[in-house]
Formats: sequence, C-alpha cells, structure tokens
Amino acid sequence: MRVSIVGSGYVGSVTAACFAELGHEVICIDIDEEKVRQINDGYPPVWEEGLEELMNKHVGKNLIATSDYDYAVQNTDVSFICVGTPSSDNGEIDLSIVAAASKSLGESIASKNAYHTVVVKSTVVPGTTEGVVRSILEEYSARKAGETLGLAMNPEFLREGRAVHDFLNPDKIVVGSLDRRSDSIVSGLYRDIDCEVTSVNLRTAEMIKYVNNAFLATKISFANEVGNICKRLGIDTYQVMDAVGRDFRINPAFLNSGAGFGGSCFPKDVRALIGSAKDLDYYPSLLESVIEVNELQPLQMVEILEDKLPEIKDKRIAVLGLAFKNDTDDIRESRSIPVIRKLLEKGADIHAYDPLAADNMKKVFPDITYASSAQEALEGAQACLLMTEWDEFRKLNTEFDSMDRKLLVDGRYLLDPEELEDVEYEGLCW
Ligand code: UDX
Repeated sequence: MRVSIVGSGYVGSVTAACFAELGHEVICIDIDEEKVRQINDGYPPVWEEGLEELMNKHVGKNLIATSDYDYAVQNTDVSFICVGTPSSDNGEIDLSIVAAASKSLGESIASKNAYHTVVVKSTVVPGTTEGVVRSILEEYSARKAGETLGLAMNPEFLREGRAVHDFLNPDKIVVGSLDRRSDSIVSGLYRDIDCEVTSVNLRTAEMIKYVNNAFLATKISFANEVGNICKRLGIDTYQVMDAVGRDFRINPAFLNSGAGFGGSCFPKDVRALIGSAKDLDYYPSLLESVIEVNELQPLQMVEILEDKLPEIKDKRIAVLGLAFKNDTDDIRESRSIPVIRKLLEKGADIHAYDPLAADNMKKVFPDITYASSAQEALEGAQACLLMTEWDEFRKLNTEFDSMDRKLLVDGRYLLDPEELEDVEYEGLCW
C-alpha cells in the first residue's frame, strides 16, 4: 500500500522505516527541511537500534521524504499523524501540532479525487480523534468522515531504543476506526506481521494506549512502595518481587523498584489521564498516588545520602546516570533531574557522568561538572549516587577506590555489595 507519515520524530521515523520494511510505498512528510534532507540521505533524524539500517535499505526505493503535503497526499492512500503531543503548562496535552497536521492534511485531501484515510498514531486523550481531528479534517477537506474520508486511530506501544523491534514484533496491534473501510485499510497494513489486530472504536483505541502506560507506571510505583516498606523491614524487595512476579496473573516485568520512572510517555500519559478524569468530575486517587510515589522516590536517594553524610554543602558528589533509562540520550523526566536539583539546593559540588546524555543535561544544569567517565566522576568524591540502569555501571568495582569516601547509594539495584571491597553500600529500597 501507499502510506504517508506526518512527523519524523521517533514514532514517525520508526513507523515509516518499518512500513517500508513490510513492503509498503512510504512518503515521510515533515515541515523541517533538515529532517527531510537527512531522511533522503538515508540518515534517521533520531537514534533507534536498527533504524539507520532500515532507512538505508529502503530510502530512494520505497521510502522518501518531502515537506510537500499535496505531493504526499496525492501519491498515497493513507496518512498517519505521528507528531508530538507535549504537555502544556497545566499538564494537559498540547494538541496544537496535531491540529496543524490535520489542517494541512485536510487542505491537501480537498484537492484529491480519491478516497483517503487519516490515521492518528500520536498519543491523544480519548475523544480527540473524533472531536478535534475529525472536525478539522472535515472543515478543510470539505468531505464527510466515514464516507469519502476514512478515519482511524492506531496507538503505538514502542519503547525508546527498542522501537524498531517492538514495531515489527508487537504483542498487540490496536486499530480504532470510524467505519469498516478504514479498519480494513489500516489492519491490512499489518498483514505480514504475525499478530492479531484488535479492532475497536476511535476512543477505545485512544484509551487502550493510556491504560497500557498507566498500568505499567502503576506497577513501577507499586514496586517502589513495596520496596520502601521492605527497606524499613530489612527485606530484599527484589527477592520478594521475583517470587511475586512468578504468579502468571502478575508477570515479572516492570516490578523493578528504584528511583522511579521517567521518559516522554509514562509521566505525561498518567498526568493526561488524571486530567481527563478530573474534567469529568472524577478524582483518580490511585493514579494521583502513582505520580506522587514517583516524585518522592528519587528524593529518598538524597535522604539516604544525608543519613550517612549529614553535611552535603561543598561536598563532592558523583552522580552516575543522567538519561531516564539506559541506552538512550533522552533526559525527559529523568529521575536524575530532581536529585541534582535537590543536591544543588544543598550546595553540593556535583560531578556527573552519563555515557550518552550529558550534552542534553548540560542544557538543564549548565553549571555542574560533567566527567568523561565514571572513574573521573568518582575521583575524590565523598559519595556516589547511581541513577540510571546502564550496563557499564554494573561492572564498576575498583573505580570506587579513587573516592575520598567510598559511600554508594544505588538507585537501580545495579551492584552487589558482597562484590565490592570496603564500600559503604546503601540500596534505595533494599
Ligand atoms: C514506555 C512504554 O514501555 C512504551 O510501551 C510506550 O509506548 C512509551 O513509554 P519508554 O518510555 O521508552 O517506553 O521506557 P520504558 O523502557 O518503558 O521505561 C520507562 C521508565 O520506567 C524508565 O525510567 C525506567 O527506568 C523505569 N522502569 C522500568 C522502572 O523504574 N522499573 C521497571 O521495572 C521498569
């Protein structure tokens, strides 16, 4: 099939490259000429494992990029909206980019004769595709959705860093649609993937995405709450969760307690779901607690540190890990941010290190010291806080010898104190 993809961020680029890999004719649309040029040169605008290989393989053959909506709409049958939905200041999602993309698509569809289907892949609160996107498309295309204009919602469940793998090997494919024709067109795009398609209506598809992320975030906050209790009882929470996760009704994934969840999805999506509930006069107390536990969790790192090192002012503290998780340079909602902020309030001299994310963190904290290795960050430090689950941190051992005081607060269960000589080890929840 012929597909156009609006937006070349991580969801759009991965969707484009993977649809090309599935044999479809793909046109990426982006208003940023630099991204268009990059894609046409075979370089993805974002880093994702395996993405560059796929782009190189398909670009110029069945994958191209353009900034020309008319060209893309004329030459494809389906357009996916894969643009960002950032949080606005009041925590609600900002739909201005989705609205702008819908308007541009609508205008281009107006000058086309054939049937065209628009699919929302961006994460939007229930009711948005039907309310906002549909009305803008109908206004600018002068068509009626469900008749000569198809409309669908197809959420993504892609983890950053693993997005290509997740796209091609999904646990589920959800297609929400206004009418049967749109459902069969969108479902047909995934024909060669070995996974059943769940067909629902538009707002159910939107809700499935939020509930999926809210449930995973809830698992993490639950594990963190249990971890905090275990710590006070002197119990290793990882042993507890290892056993609990064997219950097939619970499953072992996402029960790792630690400094909490970050990233571009979990915090934003849980807050947006809370906002939607409140708009409907329902107070979602469980979801509020999921966020509250997640905000308090990283600060406990500092409390544990202060128990051991009561005067932090002017003390050299190594912070290892700035990305919100391993294998990414993304620092959005990273749990290191509130920790560094708190340490700065207390006057600490911070020496931070991350294998990929230091440049991004420099924009948030330009005045702390950035080391070029874990070893360099640790040299002369009075304490070390381990914030991100990078594999290279799991191998740290003799590097701690260069510290002034070998005090380590592990926020991710990365190191085994039995293996470390003379290190004062404190786990966050264990
Ligand atoms: C997530 C979802 O997994 C994905 O399906 C969705 O579409 C986008 O959001 P991502 O944000 O890339 O993906 O990160 P993920 O790997 O899920 O981890 C999120 C955060 O939770 C990280 O900060 C991680 O450190 C934390 N986490 C994860 C835990 O604290 N404990 C766990 O057990 C698992």
